[in-house]
Amino acid sequence: MVDLRTQVLRKPLGLTFSHEDLEKEKDNLLIAAYEDDEMLGCCMLIQVDATTVQLRQMAVKAGLQGKGIGRVLMQFAENIARDRGNRKIMMHARKNAVGFYEKLGYNTAGEEFTEITIPHFIMEKEL
Ligand SMILES: CC(C)(COP(=O)(O)OP(=O)(O)OC[C@H]1O[C@@H](n2cnc3c(N)ncnc32)[C@H](O)[C@@H]1OP(=O)(O)O)[C@@H](O)C(=O)NCCC(=O)NCCS
Repeated sequence: MVDLRTQVLRKPLGLTFSHEDLEKEKDNLLIAAYEDDEMLGCCMLIQVDATTVQLRQMAVKAGLQGKGIGRVLMQFAENIARDRGNRKIMMHARKNAVGFYEKLGYNTAGEEFTEITIPHFIMEKEL
């Protein structure tokens, strides 16, 4: 998963994951889509308060984007979040992915901000 995330999310920005970055993720819920042994996409959920989870690190393998894998991953993540008693899901969405999350019912909240050098918006949805 770190390899997929590096290829899709970090390398295009000239960045990598540090040991400290990954260490912080050890209690997160990791979700991946597979075909046989090949990981096609991934994301993770972090509990931020009693009824809210944050989605992070949403990535679909290059060459397989735009085929519905991201949508299925999001639906799976939302079901897990709901099953665990959450009422809200939010994320720091890259500006170029805002349209993707909007299609899945998410709304932006607040002003644009910069994270890992690129513009982002907070997006959220009631479950
Ligand atoms: C953004 C991403 C996760 C979406 O996953 P995907 O598998 O490509 O998306 P899907 O094929 O499930 O798309 C679902 C819908 O969203 C649309 N969509 C997908 N990516 C989009 C984007 N970047 N902007 C606007 N709409 C998008 C699709 O056209 C599709 O619309 P439709 O239902 O009308 O056909 C994936 O493209 C990706 O990994 N991109 C690079 C990394 C990235 O930006 N990650 C998000 C970090 S916040």
